Amino acid sequence: MLLLGIETSCDDTAVAILRDGRDAIANVSTNQDEFHRAYGGIVPEIASRAHLALLSAAIEHTLDRARMTLADCDGIAVTYGPGLIGSLLVGVATAKALAFAARRPLYAVNHLHGHLFAPFLESTEAPPYPFLALLVSGGHTQLVAVDGPTQLRVLGKTRDDAAGEAFDKTARLLGLGFPGGPALDALARDGDARAIAFPRYRPEGDALDFSFSGLKTSVRYFLERPENARVRREDVAASFQAAVVDALVARVDAAFSRGSFRAVALSGGVAANSYLQQRMRAWAERCGVDLFIPPRSYCTDNAAMIAAAAEAQGEAVRVDPLVLAADPNLPFERIGNAA
Ligand code: KG4
Ligand code: ZN
Repeated sequence: MLLLGIETSCDDTAVAILRDGRDAIANVSTNQDEFHRAYGGIVPEIASRAHLALLSAAIEHTLDRARMTLADCDGIAVTYGPGLIGSLLVGVATAKALAFAARRPLYAVNHLHGHLFAPFLESTEAPPYPFLALLVSGGHTQLVAVDGPTQLRVLGKTRDDAAGEAFDKTARLLGLGFPGGPALDALARDGDARAIAFPRYRPEGDALDFSFSGLKTSVRYFLERPENARVRREDVAASFQAAVVDALVARVDAAFSRGSFRAVALSGGVAANSYLQQRMRAWAERCGVDLFIPPRSYCTDNAAMIAAAAEAQGEAVRVDPLVLAADPNLPFERIGNAA
């Protein structure tokens, strides 16, 4: 099966053609960072206008690269939520028009489910069900039991900031600009993770939740104290990163030991973090667990993962192109869109 995937939920205008849920024969992503950098964050109005200007060309370019036409595609998969409403509308309206005109099935994918299927991309071996997924992105931080393509249970989530949001806000405190996560990751490589003992949040009882806003505030107070003016920014970055990663690894360990999972998968933009990958690999080796991490380009938002989710979830997410509506607040549990 050849699926055309479209992802425009935030600030990446992404299109891909995926063969059999695994091989991206073309994967195009137009990053909008240039447009948002001056504002220090994503400006929704700019994002939707940029999608509008870029999406048609991105689709043509993707088809050209794959040496295909729309008629060669077996279906169209699109992100319909959650995300920025203006951004989602551009992708959804485009996908509906293409599906209608080409008379191809339309699949409506929950963006968060897209991230869960990123580890299936370009892999020689797919994660076996049931697996435990750690989804860490700019907007979400969740531990999910993936019992099957449409059987998803949230075991824990953040009570305030998402992991990526904590990276971005802390990067801003360190003067690293936008987007901050990758820059903080790079800076931390030259730092000492034990230099500063930032707090590690522990949920009460056996909850598997996260919280990162207290950590971010600790970093801010630390940097404001005059006596810390000479502390190396590399050490602050590495110590902050270690606090985030400690919490993530501890919760994965707790969730894994309580379930009967056959593997663990990482996904979302923060899964690209080199220290998180290093620590998770060490944990998996120590515990004898099969760990799946998507290639870096599939950790952050992309359209191949949207097509992968559509391939896996199949009929459960097939929708009528005339009635599909974008939903900026789409809950994690929602599969398909009948409304
Ligand atoms: O999944 P994603 O592309 O978009 C959302 O759905 O949110 O994730 C973007 C987030 C941003 O917060 C970005 O700073 C973070 O992922 N990120 C990283 C790294 N690469 C991206 N955070 C830490 N280290 C990285 N290497
Ligand atoms: Zn995302």
